[in-house]
Amino acid sequence: MKIVVIGGTGLIGSKLVAKLTEHGHEAVAASPNTGVNTLTGEGLAEVLTGAQVVVDVSNSPSFERAAVLKFFETSTGNLLAAEAEAGVGHHVAVSIVGTERMPDNGYFAAKIAQEQLIEKSGIPFSLVHSTQFFEFARGIADEGTVDGKVHMAPVLFQPIAGDDVAKAVGRTAVGSPLNGRVEIAGPERLRMDEFFRQALAAWGDPREVVTDPHARYFGSELSEQSLVPIDDATLGTIRYLDWLGSTGK
Ligand SMILES: NC(=O)c1ccc[n+]([C@@H]2O[C@H](COP(=O)([O-])OP(=O)(O)OC[C@H]3O[C@@H](n4cnc5c(N)ncnc54)[C@H](OP(=O)(O)O)[C@@H]3O)[C@@H](O)[C@H]2O)c1
Repeated sequence: MKIVVIGGTGLIGSKLVAKLTEHGHEAVAASPNTGVNTLTGEGLAEVLTGAQVVVDVSNSPSFERAAVLKFFETSTGNLLAAEAEAGVGHHVAVSIVGTERMPDNGYFAAKIAQEQLIEKSGIPFSLVHSTQFFEFARGIADEGTVDGKVHMAPVLFQPIAGDDVAKAVGRTAVGSPLNGRVEIAGPERLRMDEFFRQALAAWGDPREVVTDPHARYFGSELSEQSLVPIDDATLGTIRYLDWLGSTGK
């Protein structure tokens, strides 16, 4: 099966292309680095020729509110139009658990806009809602740092390894369209302040972690369940400290 992975050179995309190829699929990485740009439309029609499935794991170079909204609206609009033209039968995209519970967050709002375009496109689709990737943990700690201390709310947190994400997305891509969503999360659920206390200790990072119920997550206040699946979710198998030990990241 020909499966085009938009953002196939990125963190999840490159893992996904490798896994799909291992399973005998014709997986094609599409991104500006391979001559395909969903913002301008460059190379899109060519790469989609003969594709049965498109997986979109692209990401905005800027997380600034207006820029990220413009990225996901424009790129998703161009991509869905090109897929309709090419007769693609399944569009898969990765979004974030809890987008609809935190619409005041600029990045989450942009992901909601992306999902809405997909849902009304008429193309059979599957949305994979994931919790935060392990690979993103250091960025979250840095974003939460105020005067040298890492401020974290004591809310539920259940991050997942990029490898587990790629596995779940791959399974979804080769399955029948859900015309709905599946949620995925890591195998361990703990409080965010506790997670970062353990993580910083394991990183050998001397910053203190301050438990702060009003600590903001990329500008938004969190409630107990903002970032975790509320209903059934598919769980990964890789534990954070094992992953850290094996990758050194
Ligand atoms: N980080 C998290 O914790 C988290 C949690 C849940 C969901 N997600 C979602 O997961 C997805 C994948 O994230 P990631 O961390 O794997 O992304 P990433 O490593 O930042 O990779 C982004 C990819 O997007 C491509 N890209 C950028 N601009 C493009 C354009 N104009 N046209 C086509 N491709 C373009 C990049 O291509 P080049 O290499 O050519 O620049 C790269 O391949 C994102 O949609 C994100 O919203 C993330």
